[in-house]
Amino acid sequence: MKIDILLGLQWGDEGKGKVVDALSPNYDVIARFQGGPNAGHSLEFNNIKHVLHLIPSGIFHSDKLNIIGNGVVLDPAVFKKEIEELGPPVEELLKRLVISSRANLILPTHRILDAAYEHQKGNLKIGSTLKGIGPAYTDKASRNGLRVADIIRNNFRELYYEHTANHLLILKNYNFTFDLKEYEKGWFEGIELMRKFRVENTEYLLHNLSTDGKKILAEGAQGTMLDVDFGSYPYVTSSNTISAGACTGLGISPKNIGEVFGIFKAYCTRVGSGPFPTELKDETGELLRKKGCEYGATTGRPRRCGWLDIPALKYAIMINGTTKLFMMKSDILSGFGSIKVCTSYKVDGRDQNEIPFDNNAEIDPVYAELPGWDEDITGIRDYDILPENLKKYVEFIEIQTGIPVSIVSVGPDRKATIFR
Ligand code: GDP
Ligand code: IMO
Ligand code: MG
Repeated sequence: MKIDILLGLQWGDEGKGKVVDALSPNYDVIARFQGGPNAGHSLEFNNIKHVLHLIPSGIFHSDKLNIIGNGVVLDPAVFKKEIEELGPPVEELLKRLVISSRANLILPTHRILDAAYEHQKGNLKIGSTLKGIGPAYTDKASRNGLRVADIIRNNFRELYYEHTANHLLILKNYNFTFDLKEYEKGWFEGIELMRKFRVENTEYLLHNLSTDGKKILAEGAQGTMLDVDFGSYPYVTSSNTISAGACTGLGISPKNIGEVFGIFKAYCTRVGSGPFPTELKDETGELLRKKGCEYGATTGRPRRCGWLDIPALKYAIMINGTTKLFMMKSDILSGFGSIKVCTSYKVDGRDQNEIPFDNNAEIDPVYAELPGWDEDITGIRDYDILPENLKKYVEFIEIQTGIPVSIVSVGPDRKATIFR
Protein backbone atom coordinates (compact mmCIF):
# COMPACT_ATOMS: atom_id res chain seq x y z
CA MET A 1 0.00 0.00 0.00
CA LYS A 2 1.37 3.43 -0.95
CA ILE A 3 2.18 5.92 1.78
CA ASP A 4 0.41 9.30 1.84
CA ILE A 5 2.11 12.47 3.02
CA LEU A 6 0.55 15.44 4.76
CA LEU A 7 2.59 18.63 5.03
CA GLY A 8 2.35 22.39 5.38
CA LEU A 9 2.61 24.57 2.27
CA GLN A 10 3.21 27.88 4.02
CA TRP A 11 5.30 28.95 7.04
CA GLY A 12 4.01 26.32 9.47
CA ASP A 13 0.99 26.31 11.80
CA GLU A 14 -1.39 25.62 8.91
CA GLY A 15 -3.40 23.19 11.06
CA LYS A 16 -1.50 19.93 10.46
CA GLY A 17 -2.31 18.54 13.92
CA LYS A 18 -6.03 19.09 13.49
CA VAL A 19 -6.24 17.52 10.08
CA VAL A 20 -3.98 14.52 10.84
CA ASP A 21 -6.20 13.76 13.82
CA ALA A 22 -9.31 14.13 11.65
CA LEU A 23 -7.86 11.82 8.96
CA SER A 24 -6.48 9.22 11.39
CA PRO A 25 -9.57 6.98 11.24
CA ASN A 26 -8.64 6.31 7.57
CA TYR A 27 -5.11 5.14 8.46
CA ASP A 28 -3.40 2.41 10.49
CA VAL A 29 -0.15 4.24 11.10
CA ILE A 30 0.83 7.91 11.56
CA ALA A 31 4.56 8.65 11.20
CA ARG A 32 6.30 11.98 11.88
CA PHE A 33 9.22 12.48 9.50
CA GLN A 34 11.18 15.60 10.51
CA GLY A 35 11.50 18.55 12.86
CA GLY A 36 11.38 18.28 16.60
CA PRO A 37 9.87 20.13 19.54
CA ASN A 38 9.92 23.37 17.53
CA ALA A 39 6.59 22.06 16.21
CA GLY A 40 3.33 22.69 18.01
CA HIS A 41 0.50 20.67 16.49
CA SER A 42 -2.91 21.46 18.01
CA LEU A 43 -5.92 19.26 17.85
CA GLU A 44 -9.26 19.49 19.52
CA PHE A 45 -12.09 17.09 20.42
CA ASN A 46 -14.64 16.89 23.26
CA ASN A 47 -13.93 20.61 23.89
CA ILE A 48 -10.34 19.86 24.95
CA LYS A 49 -7.38 21.26 23.04
CA HIS A 50 -4.13 19.26 22.95
CA VAL A 51 -0.79 20.53 21.67
CA LEU A 52 1.75 17.96 20.46
CA HIS A 53 5.42 18.70 19.83
CA LEU A 54 7.14 15.39 19.12
CA ILE A 55 4.40 12.81 19.18
CA PRO A 56 2.48 12.16 15.95
CA SER A 57 -1.06 13.52 15.82
CA GLY A 58 -2.69 10.08 15.60
CA ILE A 59 -1.87 9.33 19.23
CA PHE A 60 -5.41 9.89 20.57
CA HIS A 61 -6.79 7.04 18.46
CA SER A 62 -6.28 3.89 20.55
CA ASP A 63 -6.09 1.54 17.56
CA LYS A 64 -3.39 3.44 15.61
CA LEU A 65 0.34 2.98 15.62
CA ASN A 66 2.37 6.19 15.85
CA ILE A 67 6.00 6.37 14.76
CA ILE A 68 8.64 9.00 15.49
CA GLY A 69 10.84 8.66 12.41
CA ASN A 70 14.60 8.84 11.96
CA GLY A 71 14.33 12.37 10.50
CA VAL A 72 13.06 13.79 13.79
CA VAL A 73 15.34 15.34 16.42
CA LEU A 74 14.11 14.30 19.82
CA ASP A 75 14.53 16.07 23.17
CA PRO A 76 13.96 13.48 25.94
CA ALA A 77 12.87 16.16 28.45
CA VAL A 78 10.16 17.44 26.11
CA PHE A 79 9.20 13.85 25.30
CA LYS A 80 8.65 13.04 28.98
CA LYS A 81 6.57 16.15 29.63
CA GLU A 82 4.46 15.46 26.56
CA ILE A 83 3.84 11.81 27.45
CA GLU A 84 2.84 12.78 30.98
CA GLU A 85 0.44 15.51 29.86
CA LEU A 86 -1.18 13.48 27.10
CA GLY A 87 -3.88 11.80 29.19
CA PRO A 88 -3.74 8.05 28.49
CA PRO A 89 -1.56 6.08 30.95
CA VAL A 90 2.03 5.33 29.93
CA GLU A 91 1.27 1.56 29.72
CA GLU A 92 -1.30 2.34 27.05
CA LEU A 93 1.00 4.73 25.16
CA LEU A 94 3.73 2.07 25.07
CA LYS A 95 1.42 0.15 22.72
CA ARG A 96 0.68 3.12 20.48
CA LEU A 97 4.15 4.62 19.95
CA VAL A 98 7.42 3.42 18.41
CA ILE A 99 10.61 5.50 18.15
CA SER A 100 13.21 5.14 15.41
CA SER A 101 16.59 3.95 16.64
CA ARG A 102 18.14 6.40 14.18
CA ALA A 103 16.45 9.62 15.34
CA ASN A 104 19.03 12.08 16.69
CA LEU A 105 18.87 13.38 20.25
CA ILE A 106 18.68 17.03 21.21
CA LEU A 107 21.09 17.52 24.12
CA PRO A 108 20.63 20.21 26.80
CA THR A 109 23.70 21.97 25.36
CA HIS A 110 22.04 22.07 21.91
CA ARG A 111 19.37 24.27 23.43
CA ILE A 112 21.99 26.48 25.04
CA LEU A 113 23.93 26.72 21.77
CA ASP A 114 20.71 27.67 19.95
CA ALA A 115 20.15 30.51 22.41
CA ALA A 116 23.81 31.63 22.27
CA TYR A 117 23.80 31.72 18.43
CA GLU A 118 20.57 33.70 18.35
CA HIS A 119 21.83 36.10 21.00
CA GLN A 120 25.00 36.67 18.96
CA LYS A 121 22.98 37.46 15.82
CA GLY A 122 21.22 40.41 17.47
CA ASN A 123 18.86 42.08 14.95
CA LEU A 124 19.60 39.40 12.38
CA LYS A 125 18.25 36.62 14.58
CA ILE A 126 16.23 33.85 12.89
CA GLY A 127 13.49 33.95 15.51
CA SER A 128 14.21 30.32 16.45
CA THR A 129 11.93 28.56 18.91
CA LEU A 130 15.18 27.93 20.91
CA LYS A 131 14.48 24.21 21.21
CA GLY A 132 17.97 23.26 20.01
CA ILE A 133 16.88 22.26 16.51
CA GLY A 134 19.67 23.91 14.48
CA PRO A 135 22.56 22.67 16.68
CA ALA A 136 21.10 19.12 16.84
CA TYR A 137 20.80 18.85 13.04
CA THR A 138 24.27 20.42 12.72
CA ASP A 139 25.73 17.61 14.85
CA LYS A 140 23.79 15.03 12.85
CA ALA A 141 25.18 16.34 9.54
CA SER A 142 28.71 16.69 10.92
CA ARG A 143 28.49 13.13 12.29
CA ASN A 144 28.80 14.20 15.91
CA GLY A 145 25.30 13.34 17.06
CA LEU A 146 23.91 10.90 19.59
CA ARG A 147 21.02 8.77 18.42
CA VAL A 148 18.08 7.17 20.19
CA ALA A 149 19.57 3.65 20.06
CA ASP A 150 22.63 4.96 21.91
CA ILE A 151 20.56 5.29 25.08
CA ILE A 152 20.77 1.53 25.69
CA ARG A 153 24.56 1.43 25.51
CA ASN A 154 26.32 0.78 28.82
CA ASN A 155 28.56 3.80 28.30
CA PHE A 156 25.71 6.18 27.39
CA ARG A 157 26.50 8.63 30.21
CA GLU A 158 30.14 8.74 29.13
CA LEU A 159 29.08 9.43 25.54
CA TYR A 160 26.75 12.15 26.78
CA TYR A 161 29.50 13.90 28.77
CA GLU A 162 31.92 13.68 25.83
CA HIS A 163 29.42 15.38 23.52
CA THR A 164 28.53 17.95 26.13
CA ALA A 165 32.20 18.77 26.75
CA ASN A 166 32.59 19.60 23.04
CA HIS A 167 29.61 21.93 23.20
CA LEU A 168 30.93 23.62 26.33
CA LEU A 169 34.18 24.33 24.48
CA ILE A 170 32.24 26.11 21.72
CA LEU A 171 30.18 28.00 24.30
CA LYS A 172 33.38 29.44 25.82
CA ASN A 173 33.57 31.69 22.74
CA TYR A 174 30.19 33.18 23.49
CA ASN A 175 29.44 35.67 26.18
CA PHE A 176 26.39 33.76 27.32
CA THR A 177 25.37 32.59 30.78
CA PHE A 178 23.34 29.43 31.32
CA ASP A 179 22.44 26.79 33.86
CA LEU A 180 23.12 23.35 32.39
CA LYS A 181 22.19 21.40 35.53
CA GLU A 182 18.66 22.76 35.36
CA TYR A 183 18.11 21.14 31.92
CA GLU A 184 20.04 17.96 32.62
CA LYS A 185 17.79 16.58 35.36
CA GLY A 186 14.66 16.49 33.21
CA TRP A 187 16.70 15.27 30.26
CA PHE A 188 17.98 12.15 32.04
CA GLU A 189 14.51 11.46 33.44
CA GLY A 190 13.30 11.59 29.85
CA ILE A 191 15.96 9.06 28.82
CA GLU A 192 14.69 6.69 31.53
CA LEU A 193 11.15 6.98 30.18
CA MET A 194 12.29 6.48 26.57
CA ARG A 195 13.97 3.21 27.56
CA LYS A 196 10.50 1.77 28.23
CA PHE A 197 9.32 2.44 24.67
CA ARG A 198 9.83 0.32 21.57
CA VAL A 199 12.97 1.59 19.84
CA GLU A 200 13.28 -0.01 16.41
CA ASN A 201 14.67 0.31 12.93
CA THR A 202 11.38 1.84 11.87
CA GLU A 203 12.32 1.84 8.18
CA TYR A 204 11.83 -1.98 8.28
CA LEU A 205 8.68 -1.66 10.36
CA LEU A 206 7.18 0.81 7.89
CA HIS A 207 8.21 -1.28 4.92
CA ASN A 208 6.63 -4.41 6.42
CA LEU A 209 3.44 -2.60 7.42
CA SER A 210 3.07 -1.10 3.97
CA THR A 211 3.74 -4.49 2.30
CA ASP A 212 1.04 -6.00 4.55
CA GLY A 213 -1.44 -3.49 3.14
CA LYS A 214 -1.54 -1.16 6.13
CA LYS A 215 -2.37 2.48 5.41
CA ILE A 216 0.34 4.91 6.49
CA LEU A 217 0.17 8.70 6.76
CA ALA A 218 3.46 10.62 7.00
CA GLU A 219 3.05 13.79 9.08
CA GLY A 220 5.27 16.78 8.36
CA ALA A 221 6.20 19.60 10.69
CA GLN A 222 6.80 23.29 9.95
CA GLY A 223 6.03 24.25 6.33
CA THR A 224 7.53 24.34 2.85
CA MET A 225 8.53 28.00 3.10
CA LEU A 226 10.64 27.10 6.17
CA ASP A 227 12.47 24.27 4.34
CA VAL A 228 16.25 24.46 4.80
CA ASP A 229 16.84 24.31 1.02
CA PHE A 230 13.79 26.01 -0.46
CA GLY A 231 12.67 28.45 2.23
CA SER A 232 13.99 31.98 2.74
CA TYR A 233 17.40 30.82 4.03
CA PRO A 234 18.72 31.59 6.65
CA TYR A 235 15.23 32.38 8.00
CA VAL A 236 14.22 28.74 7.93
CA THR A 237 14.29 25.67 10.11
CA SER A 238 17.07 23.06 9.79
CA SER A 239 15.29 20.15 8.11
CA ASN A 240 13.66 19.30 4.78
CA THR A 241 10.01 19.97 5.44
CA ILE A 242 9.00 18.98 1.90
CA SER A 243 7.66 15.68 0.56
CA ALA A 244 11.20 14.46 -0.20
CA GLY A 245 11.83 14.82 3.55
CA ALA A 246 9.32 12.02 4.16
CA CYS A 247 11.51 9.65 2.11
CA THR A 248 14.70 10.48 4.02
CA GLY A 249 12.93 11.02 7.34
CA LEU A 250 11.21 7.61 7.35
CA GLY A 251 13.26 5.50 4.95
CA ILE A 252 10.52 5.14 2.35
CA SER A 253 11.10 5.01 -1.37
CA PRO A 254 9.73 7.72 -3.73
CA LYS A 255 8.11 4.84 -5.66
CA ASN A 256 6.02 4.13 -2.59
CA ILE A 257 4.47 7.59 -2.19
CA GLY A 258 0.74 7.93 -2.85
CA GLU A 259 -1.07 11.20 -2.21
CA VAL A 260 0.74 14.36 -1.17
CA PHE A 261 -1.76 16.42 0.84
CA GLY A 262 -0.71 20.06 1.01
CA ILE A 263 -2.41 22.10 3.66
CA PHE A 264 -2.68 25.87 3.80
CA LYS A 265 -4.51 28.49 5.80
CA ALA A 266 -7.09 30.55 3.89
CA TYR A 267 -4.70 33.44 4.63
CA CYS A 268 -1.02 33.45 5.70
CA THR A 269 0.90 33.60 8.95
CA ARG A 270 4.56 33.50 9.84
CA VAL A 271 6.27 33.46 13.20
CA GLY A 272 9.92 34.48 13.42
CA SER A 273 11.98 36.63 11.06
CA GLY A 274 12.20 36.58 7.26
CA PRO A 275 10.37 37.78 4.15
CA PHE A 276 6.57 37.76 4.15
CA PRO A 277 5.34 39.55 1.01
CA THR A 278 1.65 39.79 1.92
CA GLU A 279 2.16 40.70 5.59
CA LEU A 280 -0.40 43.20 6.88
CA LYS A 281 1.01 45.53 9.49
CA ASP A 282 -2.30 47.36 9.82
CA GLU A 283 -5.65 46.81 11.55
CA THR A 284 -6.65 44.10 9.03
CA GLY A 285 -3.56 42.09 10.09
CA GLU A 286 -4.46 42.71 13.71
CA LEU A 287 -8.00 41.50 13.06
CA LEU A 288 -6.72 38.30 11.41
CA ARG A 289 -4.46 37.68 14.43
CA LYS A 290 -7.30 38.32 16.88
CA LYS A 291 -9.98 36.30 15.09
CA GLY A 292 -7.58 33.49 14.21
CA CYS A 293 -5.99 33.39 17.71
CA GLU A 294 -2.67 33.62 15.89
CA TYR A 295 -0.25 33.05 18.74
CA GLY A 296 2.40 30.31 18.58
CA ALA A 297 1.42 26.89 19.98
CA THR A 298 5.04 26.31 21.12
CA THR A 299 6.28 29.76 22.12
CA GLY A 300 3.12 31.88 22.51
CA ARG A 301 4.63 34.52 20.21
CA PRO A 302 2.18 36.60 18.12
CA ARG A 303 2.15 35.35 14.53
CA ARG A 304 2.60 37.82 11.68
CA CYS A 305 -0.55 37.76 9.50
CA GLY A 306 -1.37 38.57 5.87
CA TRP A 307 -3.46 37.66 2.83
CA LEU A 308 -3.11 34.41 0.92
CA ASP A 309 -0.02 34.33 -1.29
CA ILE A 310 -0.66 32.31 -4.49
CA PRO A 311 2.90 32.56 -5.95
CA ALA A 312 4.27 31.07 -2.70
CA LEU A 313 1.51 28.45 -2.68
CA LYS A 314 2.25 27.45 -6.29
CA TYR A 315 5.95 27.20 -5.47
CA ALA A 316 5.18 24.88 -2.55
CA ILE A 317 2.83 22.78 -4.70
CA MET A 318 5.57 22.44 -7.33
CA ILE A 319 8.32 21.42 -4.88
CA ASN A 320 6.12 18.87 -3.11
CA GLY A 321 4.18 17.40 -6.02
CA THR A 322 1.01 18.19 -4.11
CA THR A 323 -1.95 16.12 -5.29
CA LYS A 324 -4.69 17.58 -3.07
CA LEU A 325 -5.11 20.83 -1.18
CA PHE A 326 -6.75 21.23 2.23
CA MET A 327 -7.84 24.77 3.12
CA MET A 328 -7.79 25.49 6.85
CA LYS A 329 -9.28 28.23 9.04
CA SER A 330 -11.81 29.26 6.39
CA ASP A 331 -14.12 30.35 9.24
CA ILE A 332 -11.70 33.10 10.24
CA LEU A 333 -12.35 34.96 6.96
CA SER A 334 -16.09 35.35 7.73
CA GLY A 335 -16.99 39.03 8.12
CA PHE A 336 -14.09 40.59 6.24
CA GLY A 337 -16.26 42.34 3.63
CA SER A 338 -13.86 41.73 0.82
CA ILE A 339 -10.85 39.44 0.71
CA LYS A 340 -7.59 40.02 -1.10
CA VAL A 341 -5.46 37.30 -2.67
CA CYS A 342 -1.97 37.93 -4.00
CA THR A 343 -1.84 36.48 -7.52
CA SER A 344 1.61 37.67 -8.63
CA TYR A 345 4.60 39.73 -7.53
CA LYS A 346 6.25 42.87 -8.78
CA VAL A 347 9.88 42.66 -7.74
CA ASP A 348 11.86 45.88 -7.82
CA GLY A 349 9.09 47.25 -10.08
CA ARG A 350 9.06 44.33 -12.55
CA ASP A 351 6.55 41.45 -12.94
CA GLN A 352 7.97 38.23 -11.59
CA ASN A 353 6.48 34.79 -11.18
CA GLU A 354 9.32 33.24 -9.21
CA ILE A 355 10.02 33.60 -5.51
CA PRO A 356 13.12 35.83 -5.47
CA PHE A 357 16.33 34.28 -4.12
CA ASP A 358 17.24 37.56 -2.46
CA ASN A 359 15.50 38.01 0.89
CA ASN A 360 15.94 41.77 0.58
CA ALA A 361 14.16 42.06 -2.79
CA GLU A 362 11.37 44.64 -2.69
CA ILE A 363 8.25 42.58 -3.39
CA ASP A 364 4.99 44.35 -4.24
CA PRO A 365 2.16 41.83 -4.16
CA VAL A 366 -0.42 42.23 -6.96
CA TYR A 367 -3.84 41.52 -5.47
CA ALA A 368 -7.16 40.25 -6.76
CA GLU A 369 -10.09 41.31 -4.60
CA LEU A 370 -12.90 38.85 -4.00
CA PRO A 371 -16.24 39.47 -2.30
CA GLY A 372 -16.43 38.14 1.27
CA TRP A 373 -19.20 36.53 3.33
CA ASP A 374 -20.61 37.26 6.77
CA GLU A 375 -22.15 33.98 7.91
CA ASP A 376 -20.73 31.99 10.82
CA ILE A 377 -19.77 28.75 9.05
CA THR A 378 -18.33 26.79 11.98
CA GLY A 379 -21.41 24.53 12.24
CA ILE A 380 -21.58 23.68 8.52
CA ARG A 381 -20.56 20.15 7.45
CA ASP A 382 -21.80 20.14 3.84
CA TYR A 383 -19.80 21.95 1.15
CA ASP A 384 -22.89 22.73 -0.91
CA ILE A 385 -24.44 24.92 1.78
CA LEU A 386 -21.36 27.04 2.42
CA PRO A 387 -21.76 30.73 1.45
CA GLU A 388 -21.53 31.20 -2.32
CA ASN A 389 -18.63 33.66 -1.99
CA LEU A 390 -16.60 31.17 0.06
CA LYS A 391 -17.16 28.54 -2.64
CA LYS A 392 -16.03 31.13 -5.22
CA TYR A 393 -12.91 31.73 -3.09
CA VAL A 394 -12.17 27.98 -3.09
CA GLU A 395 -12.77 27.71 -6.84
CA PHE A 396 -10.53 30.75 -7.46
CA ILE A 397 -7.68 28.99 -5.63
CA GLU A 398 -8.29 25.78 -7.60
CA ILE A 399 -8.12 27.67 -10.90
CA GLN A 400 -4.98 29.56 -9.86
CA THR A 401 -3.15 26.45 -8.65
CA GLY A 402 -4.65 23.71 -10.83
CA ILE A 403 -5.05 21.45 -7.76
CA PRO A 404 -8.37 20.41 -6.18
CA VAL A 405 -9.24 21.61 -2.67
CA SER A 406 -10.59 18.44 -1.12
CA ILE A 407 -10.98 19.54 2.51
CA VAL A 408 -12.33 22.84 3.81
CA SER A 409 -11.78 23.22 7.54
CA VAL A 410 -14.23 25.45 9.41
CA GLY A 411 -13.11 25.19 13.03
CA PRO A 412 -10.45 23.74 15.35
CA ASP A 413 -12.51 20.69 16.37
CA ARG A 414 -11.86 17.43 14.52
CA LYS A 415 -15.53 17.40 13.49
CA ALA A 416 -15.36 20.87 11.91
CA THR A 417 -14.00 19.37 8.71
CA ILE A 418 -15.78 19.38 5.34
CA PHE A 419 -14.69 16.61 2.96
CA ARG A 420 -15.53 17.19 -0.70
P1 GDP B 1 0.07 23.04 13.04
O1 GDP B 1 1.40 23.39 13.62
O2 GDP B 1 0.09 23.04 11.54
O3 GDP B 1 -0.50 21.76 13.59
O4 GDP B 1 -0.91 24.21 13.46
P2 GDP B 1 -1.03 24.88 14.93
O5 GDP B 1 -1.70 23.93 15.82
O6 GDP B 1 0.27 25.44 15.35
O7 GDP B 1 -1.94 26.13 14.60
C1 GDP B 1 -3.19 26.00 14.03
C2 GDP B 1 -4.22 26.63 14.98
O8 GDP B 1 -5.45 26.78 14.31
C3 GDP B 1 -4.51 25.77 16.20
O9 GDP B 1 -4.84 26.61 17.27
C4 GDP B 1 -5.74 24.97 15.75
O10 GDP B 1 -6.54 24.56 16.85
C5 GDP B 1 -6.47 25.98 14.92
N1 GDP B 1 -7.25 25.46 13.78
C6 GDP B 1 -6.97 24.45 12.94
N2 GDP B 1 -7.89 24.38 11.96
C7 GDP B 1 -8.77 25.38 12.19
C8 GDP B 1 -9.94 25.86 11.51
O11 GDP B 1 -10.34 25.38 10.46
N3 GDP B 1 -10.57 26.95 12.07
C9 GDP B 1 -10.13 27.54 13.21
N4 GDP B 1 -10.81 28.59 13.67
N5 GDP B 1 -9.03 27.12 13.86
C10 GDP B 1 -8.36 26.07 13.35
P1 IMO C 1 4.71 23.62 13.23
O1 IMO C 1 5.08 22.19 12.97
C1 IMO C 1 5.79 27.80 12.68
C2 IMO C 1 10.04 28.79 12.74
C3 IMO C 1 10.57 29.64 13.88
C4 IMO C 1 11.71 30.34 13.20
C5 IMO C 1 12.27 29.27 12.28
C6 IMO C 1 13.46 28.51 12.86
O2 IMO C 1 3.95 23.85 14.47
O3 IMO C 1 4.08 24.21 12.02
P2 IMO C 1 13.75 26.66 14.74
O4 IMO C 1 13.20 26.56 16.11
O5 IMO C 1 13.32 25.55 13.83
O6 IMO C 1 15.22 26.88 14.71
O7 IMO C 1 13.10 28.02 14.14
O8 IMO C 1 11.20 28.37 12.02
N1 IMO C 1 9.33 27.56 13.14
C7 IMO C 1 8.00 27.41 13.05
N2 IMO C 1 7.05 28.28 12.68
N3 IMO C 1 5.45 26.54 12.99
C8 IMO C 1 6.40 25.64 13.33
O9 IMO C 1 6.13 24.33 13.50
C9 IMO C 1 7.75 26.08 13.42
N4 IMO C 1 8.92 25.48 13.75
C10 IMO C 1 9.88 26.39 13.57
O10 IMO C 1 9.58 30.52 14.33
O11 IMO C 1 11.22 31.38 12.39
MG1 MG D 1 2.19 24.75 14.99
